[in-house]
Amino acid sequence: MRKPIIAGNWKMNKAAAEATLLANGIKRDLFDVGNVEIVLCPPFTSLSLVGDVIQDTPISLGAQNMHWEKEGAFTGELSAAMLKEAGCKYVIIGHSERRAYFGETNESVNKKVKAALREGLVPIVCVGEKLEDRESGKAFDVVSEHVEKGLEGLGESEAVKIVIAYEPVWAIGTGKTASAAQAEEIHKFIRELLSKKYGKKTSESICIQYGGSVKPDNIKELMTEIDIDGALVGGASLKEESFVAMVKEVSEL
Ligand code: PGA
Repeated sequence: MRKPIIAGNWKMNKAAAEATLLANGIKRDLFDVGNVEIVLCPPFTSLSLVGDVIQDTPISLGAQNMHWEKEGAFTGELSAAMLKEAGCKYVIIGHSERRAYFGETNESVNKKVKAALREGLVPIVCVGEKLEDRESGKAFDVVSEHVEKGLEGLGESEAVKIVIAYEPVWAIGTGKTASAAQAEEIHKFIRELLSKKYGKKTSESICIQYGGSVKPDNIKELMTEIDIDGALVGGASLKEESFVAMVKEVSEL
């Protein structure tokens, strides 16, 4: 059985005071939820603060990006080791906003995934098609390319350690969620790709999250699909009430 992972991607929101407040609220409400893996991904400057709040709880810390090199002249970047030191267990790689605004490519995603694994971080590898891809019937091709290239060179022993997040770009921050059936179709497809690459057993053990306008009132329907193993949540993770409600919905399934 795959344990569902609900991750809050706070994006460029929540500076120190607000981040601490939100993390404290989430800790108070969810400290005893054992059957859902809860991950908070604050911006870099709030990582250590949030890490301190959730220390000694089952709630985990994640970062939103990293560089693939170990160190060096890369102004503005952070290494996997730095994230580890700040208390991270997870790191989001290849989010569509990074692909769209910061030149992230399948090749850089692949380098980052490998570097994260080398450092013992769990990469949450984001894949997903744009609206025009879906409308022109290319959703499967784009997702397949993201998976194939993003995971290129990974052996089975590494693949079991990753998490994949399927996030159709047209559903992110738009209020338009993919229907449960639309999402499941792609999740099933991704699992089949993983099965071809790494075998059925490994593919069955990899968590595939859905992301894109997930909210308390649609999470249950999505999570009851067989290949959907959690959610990567943006907007609805910024409020204690809605994040807590989503985790509780999943925990009660
Ligand atoms: P959203 O963002 O929940 O606000 O659509 C999801 C994401 O970008 O991970």
